[in-house]
Amino acid sequence: MTGPGRAVPTLLLDQAGDDERLLAACPTDLAGHRRRHPRPPAPGRQPDPDLLDAIERSGLTGRGGAGFPTAQKLRAVGAARGPRVVVVNGAEGEPASGKDRVLLTHAPHLVLDGAVVAAAAVGAARVVVCVDRSQPEALAAIRTALAERAAESDGAAWQVAASPSRYVTGQSSAIVQWLGGGPAVPTGVHAHQRGVDGRPTLVQNVETLAHLALVASQGPAWFRSLGTVDEPGTTLVTVTGAVARPSVVEVALGSPVPDIIRRAGGSSEPLQALLIGGYFGTWVDARAGLQARYSRAGLAPLGAGPGAGVVIALPATACGVAETARVLAWFAGESAGQCGPCAFGLPALATAAAELARGAAGPAEVDRLRRWAGEIEGRGACRHPDGATALLRSALTVFAADVEAHAGGAPCAGSSRPPALRVPAPGEGWR
Ligand SMILES: Cc1cc2nc3c(=O)[nH]c(=O)nc-3n(C[C@H](O)[C@H](O)[C@H](O)COP(=O)(O)O)c2cc1C
Ligand code: SF4
Repeated sequence: MTGPGRAVPTLLLDQAGDDERLLAACPTDLAGHRRRHPRPPAPGRQPDPDLLDAIERSGLTGRGGAGFPTAQKLRAVGAARGPRVVVVNGAEGEPASGKDRVLLTHAPHLVLDGAVVAAAAVGAARVVVCVDRSQPEALAAIRTALAERAAESDGAAWQVAASPSRYVTGQSSAIVQWLGGGPAVPTGVHAHQRGVDGRPTLVQNVETLAHLALVASQGPAWFRSLGTVDEPGTTLVTVTGAVARPSVVEVALGSPVPDIIRRAGGSSEPLQALLIGGYFGTWVDARAGLQARYSRAGLAPLGAGPGAGVVIALPATACGVAETARVLAWFAGESAGQCGPCAFGLPALATAAAELARGAAGPAEVDRLRRWAGEIEGRGACRHPDGATALLRSALTVFAADVEAHAGGAPCAGSSRPPALRVPAPGEGWR
């Protein structure tokens, strides 16, 4: 199922690896789920210090993009005064990602167990599950799962919210403002200080919560038995582009990148580059990328990171300059238009990149692109413009030879081929 915010229409669920935890075949009905997963601890009015300690020992970090230590976030919300709220962030605005909707659809009870664990850890009585409204299957799975769980009476007040299909909707302050009745645009206010209806709020990615459920039931040592010492556990990766079977796969952090490509059926044609982390990510040369390990530490030497858990394989026949120009145009269209660098800077970047792609910009314009990227970076109220500039910078490096050819007025043959990356149709409104 696709919607305005989606660039990956169909994805297979790969359950053939050795590391499946979240994706291990599990019944979607509650009775079947409970045969494998115990009921999580019921939330009380106060934070649960033992649970917080266990989560800290697990070393779990957020899987929504920033990789922030989960225990630290839970402690900040637990320390705030007043009734607390947990938001399950299933907005999945990154167009190249499909992992959250796959998890919501195939393991809804695991996600909901994780939300209960988070509520117990911080002492929250209210849980809001936000799902991108262009994903009816995921929404239906969550609504059905919640109806089944009514009899378990876990003590939480549940709400399901179908969020606008815009990229910045999933940014934590944007989703909080939208849940309070405002537009789904970032405010810069920290959710743990002033979240939904002014309450201290924990905004946590769907996948992070599913891991949290397993940390609570299996313990931190079990969680650490896969992954690396510094980046423990498994992670979901949406693998698309020039691969035989576009899929969501689950791998231990630190796995070799070629294993991830293999799990998606292997490359379907020779590759020139990988886009790692999503459209909010970084281009890396295919040869270097295929020698790296998939973790923050493993990808850092390439200037990349797992981000939203995406690997896109770019075929050798595609034009990296043209692909990047189209993604930049999408970034510009997704700006909430609140901050100057984003509202004016991104359209300027996108226009200049499009001119370069069609051979209508010279070396001076390439220098200007670099300068503008530096001027825009870090100036928005959220990191939306930084995603665009990071993508652009990596493109100028990884596709340096093509950039030179385009700037010399001779676009490469790939720029007249059909696009390799899907760019979503223009988004809907902010409410
Ligand atoms: C522009 C922008 C868009 C974002 N979109 C999402 C999203 O769709 N889903 C998500 O889980 N996190 C998204 N995030 C990250 C959230 O702000 C927040 O860090 C995350 O939901 C926290 O969950 P985690 O700690 O479990 O990763 C976005 C961040 C930015 C700057
Ligand atoms: S940086 Fe862009 S997306 Fe973020 S708040 Fe400002 S205008 Fe909106």
